[in-house]
Amino acid sequence: MSAAGSTVLIPGGIHARVRERIEAEFDAVSIAAADAALMTPEARAKISGIACATVITSDFIDAFPNLSIIASFGVGYDAVDAKHAATRGIMVTNTPDVLSDEVADTTVGLLLNTLREFPKAEAYLRAGRWVAEGSYPLTSLTLRGRTVGIFGLGRIGLAIARRLEAFGLPINYHTRTKRNDVDYPWHDNLAGLASVVDTLIVVVPGGAATEKAVNADILAALGPKGVLISVGRGSTIDEPALIAALADHKIAAAGLDVFADEPNVPQALMELPNVSLLPHVASASVSTRNAMADLVVDNLAAWLDGRPAITAVPECAGLDRKPA
Ligand code: DGY
Repeated sequence: MSAAGSTVLIPGGIHARVRERIEAEFDAVSIAAADAALMTPEARAKISGIACATVITSDFIDAFPNLSIIASFGVGYDAVDAKHAATRGIMVTNTPDVLSDEVADTTVGLLLNTLREFPKAEAYLRAGRWVAEGSYPLTSLTLRGRTVGIFGLGRIGLAIARRLEAFGLPINYHTRTKRNDVDYPWHDNLAGLASVVDTLIVVVPGGAATEKAVNADILAALGPKGVLISVGRGSTIDEPALIAALADHKIAAAGLDVFADEPNVPQALMELPNVSLLPHVASASVSTRNAMADLVVDNLAAWLDGRPAITAVPECAGLDRKPA
């Protein structure tokens, strides 16, 4: 089967460019959600590819007897049961690299917003308070003199590290395995990293291995001058522990782009003065999201055409294209 004759399913919402290209390049089928009951068994048997930005469970995967590839939108693919797909010989792809610089830029912006309170200072100006009350108060926090710890030194983590190195800051990191291509001090556990830095940037993927990894103990190790920045997945932070640490000044401040139950952000977090919050926008520019959309469709086209996937997730890296 060639890509052109393949039927690709879009369950739930997805970037408009993914939908447009799939409709132009394949036989496209859309359903409102990743619920197999929304299709007849005959319709499911025609599906060879799925393009998704939603949860894809093992049961959903198993409902498609001729499924060959799941192309997931986003670098994080914790919502897709890739291990299960791999056991069935089904390719899973994500969208790495094309967003690394955008996410790293946003992370630096969020860090500065958190320390120097730029969103609050702008709101102060817009409310006429500069005229009425005089200068915005000096910020108690600054980037100057900080020591950065990066939890997750993958492609995005490294792009963040390189930027903050250029800001003149020392970098430490924790990953499961030490990298041989960087000179930054490595810590074999997160608590060890948190105890030697005052600025902890969390950029690890979601999933069982990182679930609530940043807990009350890690925040205590970060200490009262500590600042937490989170741009990976909300699931990696114990949010109630973070709220308590911020309220009790066990850490100084936090900047968050991701949350445990998006788009719902705990009211207690929103009421805290020492947090800067963004609605999961780290990669959300038109150009970067278009590049991610193209990578989703290019992966489908390659695999369904009998060529290797462009960006297979590690669980599926060894899979060969099944004969059509
Ligand atoms: C990603 O790519 O995983 C970002 O979080 C956007 O979804």
